[in-house]
Amino acid sequence: MCGIIGTIGNNNTLEILLNGLEKLEYRGYDSAGIYLNNTKTKDEILKKVTGRIANLRKVLPNDYIADLGIGHTRWATHGSPSAENAHPHISNNGRFILVHNGVINNYHELRSAYLSDVDFKSDTDSEVIVHLINKFANNLPTKEAIKKTLALLEGSYAVCIIDNLDPFTLYAAKLNSPLIIGHGKNANYVSSDALALLNLTNTFTEIMDGELVTLTKNKIVIENKNGIVKRTPYINNNNVHSFEKGQYDHFMLKEIEEQPSMIKNIIQHYLDENGNLTINSSIIEQFLKCDRLYIIACGTSYHAGLIGKIWLEKYTKIPVEVHLASEFTYFPPLISNNPLFLFISQSGETADSRQALKLIKQYNYNTIALTNVDSSTLVRETDGALLLHAGPEIAVASTKAYSAQLTVLAILAKVIGEIHHDLAKNWNLKEELIKVSNHLQQCINDKEQYLNIVQNNLLSSKNAFFLGRGTDYAVALEAALKLKEISYIQAEGYAAGELKHGPIALIEENTPVFLINTNLQTRNHLLSNGKEVACRGGKIIEIASTSCASSNAQIVFNDIHEDLTPFLTIIICQYLSYFAALKKGFDVDKPRNLAKSVTVE
Ligand code: M6R
Repeated sequence: MCGIIGTIGNNNTLEILLNGLEKLEYRGYDSAGIYLNNTKTKDEILKKVTGRIANLRKVLPNDYIADLGIGHTRWATHGSPSAENAHPHISNNGRFILVHNGVINNYHELRSAYLSDVDFKSDTDSEVIVHLINKFANNLPTKEAIKKTLALLEGSYAVCIIDNLDPFTLYAAKLNSPLIIGHGKNANYVSSDALALLNLTNTFTEIMDGELVTLTKNKIVIENKNGIVKRTPYINNNNVHSFEKGQYDHFMLKEIEEQPSMIKNIIQHYLDENGNLTINSSIIEQFLKCDRLYIIACGTSYHAGLIGKIWLEKYTKIPVEVHLASEFTYFPPLISNNPLFLFISQSGETADSRQALKLIKQYNYNTIALTNVDSSTLVRETDGALLLHAGPEIAVASTKAYSAQLTVLAILAKVIGEIHHDLAKNWNLKEELIKVSNHLQQCINDKEQYLNIVQNNLLSSKNAFFLGRGTDYAVALEAALKLKEISYIQAEGYAAGELKHGPIALIEENTPVFLINTNLQTRNHLLSNGKEVACRGGKIIEIASTSCASSNAQIVFNDIHEDLTPFLTIIICQYLSYFAALKKGFDVDKPRNLAKSVTVE
């Protein structure tokens, strides 16, 4: 996790770093720091704070001129989120300054082997890097000292390094953590994500694992162990405004309300010249060859996979298993003869998923990524990619990415399914999705009613349940994740029939229990499960489609195709979470202890 940024040559370095770090806060936001150097006056400044970039701004003179600098926003892994543990780290003689994103697994060993005489100032794994460089630089030129240090590191790193004996050079390197070069005019930049630099440049160069980059204001040299690497920069046409909140108070609200237009936009990306839904033929081929599909994902993406399984099995008749990436890597199931692996990930950078991919690649199995970020590691490292086209998702709580994943999974089920099965041929998915999009807009118009439900049922509760069956159960899991993640209300998503096998013991007077009720086949059972809860004091709030709703249902939406109700039930639950967090006064977009992109295992 963590976001890093570095710049050389631009006199506006202070604002570039602070603005860039604000954009990178999605990668972690429990502490932050910055180092600035004015190469003309030889002034330098290093500041570290706990909390957000806003805190860092407060301790910096806003007119500070510098033309070299590095910055860091942290999600703590080793050492608490304190100012001491914040980056940059500095060698004890003040010569080397470093920011690091990643985890150095062998830092204890390196410390005892090389640095027993060095006084460490933090509890981090990262600090070992700066002391090693400093030690080796006693006998080696700077670049060689850096290379020697990097060769010793096990784990993951993206680093920016400054040697203040030579403030006209900035060093950067990466292994298993993202880092990208931004090209400027008489200035150059590096960052964990192009997003942090889009207001400065649209020209970027990728850095590959194991490469070391030397940047001056006019030159960039990339090296790997075989020597100098030539790589053509590419243009990133992302609009910087799509990364801004615009008129919305929160990114989460913006992203919830983008869902109707986003679905229509995704449909456009998956149409052939005749206006029919289609997907890339090589991906179709992989599906047709496989005897079993393994979906691998984490968090919200995993929950989308659970719904994908139901649709894909129904329409394509291919058996599907859905696995949590962090479990799959170390406890893999038996694999079929011709498996296909589908990685679902908004970011395409989630470490648990990348680790599972690494394992699968050892066996040369076919892999596909379903992700929102076309420049991501999962896209680069799988055999084919299906893009979500959801636009940037900035709020930590994933909302529109989930619906985008559902949209593409439904398209997959339809396109693969109709090759063999009439059921899929008769599914007018394109029209049904457009209906979904229109109904979502209706939910957005009705949002006041969800606020009332929150005010009457959730604000004074310590816990809540979401119950459902079939796809409604999968939505219940996602709804509970959303609620706990941003409102800190303990929430459980449960298969409605399972409640009586244990968790019903937790039901007390007024415990809110949301019944997600869109499945005609199990409607009556679900309503009975609700009754069992109500007679024990639980407060039932039913979210139902018209044809399933009981006479007591609080939230009822018009019928749409029965398979596609998750789009509607989830937007309602997203609003419930949003309003609960908002009314409780929590930071909706940046909940405590979390980061948007989870790049550590
Ligand atoms: O980028 P990914 O989809 O791989 O991320 C997976 C999870 O970290 C993510 O969905 C997380 O659970 C969200 N914060 C949930 O809102």
